[in-house]
Amino acid sequence: MEVFELKHPLVEHKLAILRDKKTGTKEFRELVSELATMLCYEAMRDAETHEVEIETPITKMKTKKIDENKYAFVPILRAGTGMLDGIISVMPNAKIGHVGMYRDEETFKPNVYFFKVPKDIDKREVLILDPMLATGGSGIDAIELLKEKGVKKIKFLCIIAAPEGIKAMQEKHPDVKIYTTSIDEKLNEKAYIVPGLGDAGDRIFGTK
Ligand code: PRP
Ligand code: URA
Repeated sequence: MEVFELKHPLVEHKLAILRDKKTGTKEFRELVSELATMLCYEAMRDAETHEVEIETPITKMKTKKIDENKYAFVPILRAGTGMLDGIISVMPNAKIGHVGMYRDEETFKPNVYFFKVPKDIDKREVLILDPMLATGGSGIDAIELLKEKGVKKIKFLCIIAAPEGIKAMQEKHPDVKIYTTSIDEKLNEKAYIVPGLGDAGDRIFGTK
């Protein structure tokens, strides 16, 4: 299994603002979306393309376009939906599925409350979106649900990952590639990522 950490001064700059507890909802949302675009850019480096012929104002040429119908994006509710705008800005025809999960505050185990994906999901590569990979429980369960639907190729896109979550996901799903903008230090006793950014869902939706 591969883990790709997107290292770039622009990413680090945006992460610094995102993590800051003084950053408000509007800016937080914009940054989550921008970082999602950058992750998508990297995760689709090996995207399948087909040849097309177009005409520039100067001449005809053969070039390539992405086979958009080979992909689907699946945010994990709630916080994953914060990454959608950034994805749609580069993949405007994207098919979107949703997995609804929340972590039990005491056991930290995920509970599934919603699952709706495109009918032909088994014929698509799926990119799961969730800003946080903490214990890995939510991501691991989301991957299991998608595999049960016949999905064969999955990538997991997150803004911040904890080493514990990466390890757990590697053990359960060694075939899934993780893309993140930061591998942080550790989890604290409440299974929050340290230094992290706090509760991603609450900061995106302003619920605390
Ligand atoms: C957060 C986050 C992930 C999950 C990560 O969601 O968005 O889905 O926790 O933690 P894990 O790796 O330990 O499973 P949360 O359950 O707080 O729900 P929310 O998005 O509705 O806020
Ligand atoms: N979920 C979050 O939103 N933040 C964390 O640090 C861990 C899980």
